[in-house]
Amino acid sequence: MSIRILAIESSCDDTSAAVLVDGVMLSNVMATQEVHKKYGGVIPELASRAHQQNIIPVVDQALKESGLTIREIDVVAFTRGPGLLGSLIVGTSFAKGLAMALDIPLVDVNHLQGHLLSPFITEPGEDKPTPSFPYLSLLVSGGHTQIIKVVDPLNYEVLGKTIDDAVGEAFDKCAKLLDLGYPGGPVIDKLAKDGNANRFLFSKPSIKGLDYSFSGIKTSLLYFLRDNIKADPDFIQGNINDICASYQQTLVDILMKKLVKASLETSIREITLSGGVSANSLLRKTIETEGVKRGWNTYLPQFKYTTDNAAMIGIAGYYRYLSGHRASPNIAPVSRIKEI
Ligand code: KG4
Ligand code: ZN
Repeated sequence: MSIRILAIESSCDDTSAAVLVDGVMLSNVMATQEVHKKYGGVIPELASRAHQQNIIPVVDQALKESGLTIREIDVVAFTRGPGLLGSLIVGTSFAKGLAMALDIPLVDVNHLQGHLLSPFITEPGEDKPTPSFPYLSLLVSGGHTQIIKVVDPLNYEVLGKTIDDAVGEAFDKCAKLLDLGYPGGPVIDKLAKDGNANRFLFSKPSIKGLDYSFSGIKTSLLYFLRDNIKADPDFIQGNINDICASYQQTLVDILMKKLVKASLETSIREITLSGGVSANSLLRKTIETEGVKRGWNTYLPQFKYTTDNAAMIGIAGYYRYLSGHRASPNIAPVSRIKEI
């Protein structure tokens, strides 16, 4: 018998719903919240309000695109955390209410596990290579920077993580200093394409083991800009492409150094990339070239699955459902990963 899952994701500022049948994605609808752009970052209170407004139309659209009716859904999967509590409450309450009304099982999903399993999202008729277990996932987003060993669909081990800022924050904060708007990653990526990545040097952290740190490079950029603007008030405008290219190169070098180290230490050569920063063109290119050099099998997500989406929650929910996992009807969301 087929298993038809409706998945809901609302952990940050994207409201998303997806329908999957036996792990194959039939629809994946997303409503991105524009309201945060003018504030230069996500405002939690506004995010939860927007989720409230978006969730019914998004679920409705996902069902329409899948060709299924709500009565044909067998399981509801949802993101329990980590994320913004006010945002998670909207998706969790909706999923709980729906599962109860339809009298069908409810499955909670850890958002990060969704990102980790995103290489397994497949569309009908699609036949693509998927990583074999165990594999290493470089999970890079606005909230996370981790190297994770994915042992099987239900188990993973964090090998390294950031001790301060996430790499997405390092992109976003740089964009803020350069007055480029929010989110910063896409615009820095674009401007860097016409810049010289070797023109400026930013300090790199020396952190032990497989952990990361991105707070130092942000400070290094702040002082660099302050000193140069003193000498030339138009410094940013005149050098924007080179600044973006050099800064982006430093971030990618930092990410790659520990990823290579993790691969050597674990002897794992199955490498995946996930999270919002996995859209970065330099990071993608570098992982591929490094992969050829080191005999890695690399699996880069399609652009549409790099950001938060419900399809990845659906695939993780599918594996959890198959393993017999069921959420209690009084389950509550959690904002921090340690609690999950
Ligand atoms: O996974 P995501 O959509 O949300 C969470 O943080 O969970 O990631 C958003 C992050 C933002 O920091 C954004 O600047 C970054 O992903 N990002 C990029 C690019 N596209 C999005 N960073 C670098 N290059 C990009 N092309
Ligand atoms: Zn995410």
